[in-house]
Amino acid sequence: MSSNNARTAIVTGASKGLGAGMAKALAETGAAVVVNYREDVEGADRVVAEITAKGGQAVAVQADVSSGDDVRHLFGQAREAYGPVDVLVNNAAVATFAPLSDITEDEFQREMTTNLLGTILTTQALAAQDDIDAASIVNVSTAGAVTLPQYASLYVASKSAVNAFTIVAAKELGPRGIRVNAIMPGPSDTEGTRAMGYAGSDQEAQAIAATPLGRSGTPGDYGPLVAFLASDDARWITGDVILASGGLR
Ligand SMILES: NC(=O)c1ccc[n+]([C@@H]2O[C@H](COP(=O)([O-])OP(=O)(O)OC[C@H]3O[C@@H](n4cnc5c(N)ncnc54)[C@H](OP(=O)(O)O)[C@@H]3O)[C@@H](O)[C@H]2O)c1
Repeated sequence: MSSNNARTAIVTGASKGLGAGMAKALAETGAAVVVNYREDVEGADRVVAEITAKGGQAVAVQADVSSGDDVRHLFGQAREAYGPVDVLVNNAAVATFAPLSDITEDEFQREMTTNLLGTILTTQALAAQDDIDAASIVNVSTAGAVTLPQYASLYVASKSAVNAFTIVAAKELGPRGIRVNAIMPGPSDTEGTRAMGYAGSDQEAQAIAATPLGRSGTPGDYGPLVAFLASDDARWITGDVILASGGLR
């Protein structure tokens, strides 16, 4: 893979899981990386330490992506540390898997404001910079938007909205050289899915059985794809939503 032409990348929700893998992969291509987190400062500091130990540049910045003030702070810190932000990975998200009857108004607010509003707020903040010539935004959706699993209606609805937002935003921002794509990861082993009891569950076994490549995803599986989409090698790709699930569909 050729080197990343971007100077500054923000990866939201990079204190652990898939976001940590994406932050590390971007740093390996030469980007200075802002490791965003909401609560887990130790996790974010660990990711920063791993990147800097390999000679990369990274800094941890706390911000709740569902807050406009926090997102402005995130971009302000990123620009102060490394200059204009030209790569944005919208990875931060929350999920619950529950029957329809268990969806509360509070849970709706939590998932939609983090997963969808967060993506909109950060995209606005990137586009508000008038000193970038080109940029790449990668939104992290889910293969669930294709497989449509039972008991994931709210989460899948939030991510399906992210997919639609991706395609429409790409049309609006394309004339400014800002590309917007999404990836749809398959079920993967992360702190988040472990906390949900997914690791070792029947649901995991069924998903692996239905996955042509025969395993769950790992944080390392998505970094190369995100680094590619962020790079100039992907200069002709925008408004695309890419399934990265070992063939699960
Ligand atoms: N793992 C899977 O099987 C899977 C499959 C398909 C798609 N995905 C998608 O991949 C992404 C990462 O999933 P994951 O399993 O790696 O998640 P995870 O292990 O639960 O980690 C979530 C990350 O998001 C951060 N975060 C949550 N809410 C936030 C907010 N409001 N503002 C800023 N950061 C916030 C967390 O920060 P703190 O820890 O600091 O709170 C953490 O760094 C998500 O978009 C998820 O929907 C995952």
